[in-house]
Amino acid sequence: MDLKVENLSHWYGDLQVLRDINLTIAQGEIVCVIGPSGCGKSTFLRHLGGLEQPTEGKVLQVGEPPAGSLNPLTYVFQDFALLPWRTVEGNVSLVLEGHKLSRAEVDERITDVLARTRLSDFRQAVPKQLSGGMKQRVAIARALSVNPAVLLMDEPLSALDSQTRELLMDDLIDLWTRENFTSCYITHNLAEAVRLGHKVVVLSRRPGVIREIVEIDTPLAERSLSDPGIAAIQQALWDMMREEAQTADMELAEG
Ligand SMILES: Nc1ncnc2c1ncn2[C@@H]1O[C@H](COP(=O)(O)OP(=O)(O)OP(=O)(O)O)[C@@H](O)[C@H]1O
Ligand SMILES: [Mg+2]
Repeated sequence: MDLKVENLSHWYGDLQVLRDINLTIAQGEIVCVIGPSGCGKSTFLRHLGGLEQPTEGKVLQVGEPPAGSLNPLTYVFQDFALLPWRTVEGNVSLVLEGHKLSRAEVDERITDVLARTRLSDFRQAVPKQLSGGMKQRVAIARALSVNPAVLLMDEPLSALDSQTRELLMDDLIDLWTRENFTSCYITHNLAEAVRLGHKVVVLSRRPGVIREIVEIDTPLAERSLSDPGIAAIQQALWDMMREEAQTADMELAEG
C-alpha cells in the first residue's frame, strides 16, 4: 500500500502549520521528514495516521495493506509509550486485544514479532528491566505485530543516547533489509535521515512547506556517514536547514 498526500494544508485556528504538501510514500520505502522545531512534522504524521482532519487536501491509501494486517497505520513515539506494569509480551498484546483473534493467534503473533525484533529472550521482562534501546525495540515490535502497511515513526531515537541510537539504527536497517517495511520517519537528526531514508523530505519553518525532496540511491545496508557521497548529502541538507533552524530557534526563544 502506498500513502499519497495531495495538496495538504492544515491550520490550528488561525495558525497555519502545513501548506500544500504533496508527497507519495511508496510501499517498501522509508521516507524521512526533517525540519525545524515546530514546523509541523508531528502534525503531518498525525495526518498520515488519520488522527487529524486536513483543512485542505487529502491523504489517500492506495492499494491493499499486507496480508494479516489488523491496522494499516501504526505509530512509534519518542517516549516508547509502554505500560510499566506489563511485560514485553503484555505490551505487545495490548494492540492485539481489540481484534477478534484467538489466544493461539495472539500468541503466534507475539512469538513471531519478538523473534523478528530479537526480543524473544525478554518476553517476560517488564520495562524497568530493559535499557532505553530495548524499550524502543519493544515499541517497534508492538507496532509491527499488527502487520501495518506503514509504520509512522515520530523521532523514535530522540530520547536515546548516541551509542544506543547507532545500535538501533543498525537494527532498523537490518529489519528493513529483511522485511522491506514502509515508513514515514520524522527526525531532527540529519545523520538518521541520511542513514535511513530512501527519500529525505525537507520542510521549511512553519508553515511547513516542502523545500526539497532528496533521493538517496545507496542501499541502506551499504551506507556509512564516512562515505563521501553520504557525507555530502548530509552537508547539503544541513546547509538547507541551517538558516531555517536558526530563525525558528529565535522565534521560539522570543516566545
Ligand atoms: N493541537 C494543537 N492545537 C494548536 N496548536 C498546535 C497543536 N498541536 C501543535 N500545535 C502547534 O502547531 C505547530 C506545529 O506543531 P508540531 O508538533 O506538528 O511541530 P513539530 O515540527 O513536530 O515540532 P517539534 O520539532 O518540536 O517536534 C507548533 O507551533 C505547535 O505549537
Ligand atoms: Mg514533533
